[in-house]
Amino acid sequence: MESSAFRLRPYQNSDFETLFRVDQSCFPRGIAYSRWQMKFYLRSEGARCLVAEADGEVAGFILTEQTAEFAHIITLDVLESYRRRNIGSALLQAAEQAAARLGVPRMVLETATTNKPAIALWKKHGYREFGTIADYYGPGLDAYEMHKSLRHSPEGN
Ligand SMILES: CC(C)(COP(=O)(O)OP(=O)(O)OC[C@H]1O[C@@H](n2cnc3c(N)ncnc32)[C@H](O)[C@@H]1OP(=O)(O)O)[C@@H](O)C(=O)NCCC(=O)NCCS
Repeated sequence: MESSAFRLRPYQNSDFETLFRVDQSCFPRGIAYSRWQMKFYLRSEGARCLVAEADGEVAGFILTEQTAEFAHIITLDVLESYRRRNIGSALLQAAEQAAARLGVPRMVLETATTNKPAIALWKKHGYREFGTIADYYGPGLDAYEMHKSLRHSPEGN
């Protein structure tokens, strides 16, 4: 349920430090991105970043990298105080729509096998486990690789 208004807008360079802090607060030490990693992903070819604003501040963001074959979700972050207000879903749907408009056939991502909120969100949006990547986030920290087709079935589902 959406309990307060938010809006989505494209990333601006002046958002960098805020997004870095949001990511640090969303993931444990060692999994959250360093400044170097964040800059690397934001500048990589095909990178797209959308920011959600609520109450005049950044509430979350999604960062993807796109090729002709797939759009890879690098991260989806919503500040704890703004969770369960549909912001993560709105960011995800906007990223999917942007990829679909460009004819990209599928979305791909990795998510920790222990990250129950994220897995619930991905599944709600039609993502399916494609495989497990052992030690993806470090020793003993496995990830599911998840995919979603952006191609519509003939029935329009
Ligand atoms: C995962 C995350 C992005 C979800 O953001 P959000 O804005 O709270 O998500 P939404 O409000 O759009 O939730 C959509 C659905 O996801 C599921 N979901 C989200 N959080 C959940 C939780 N804590 N427990 C169970 N299901 C959850 C629910 O099905 C929810 O629908 P509902 O609220 O109608 O039940 C947010 O919890 C987050 O930033 N977590 C830390 C970073 C992270 O793990 N990112 C994803 C991996 S890259």
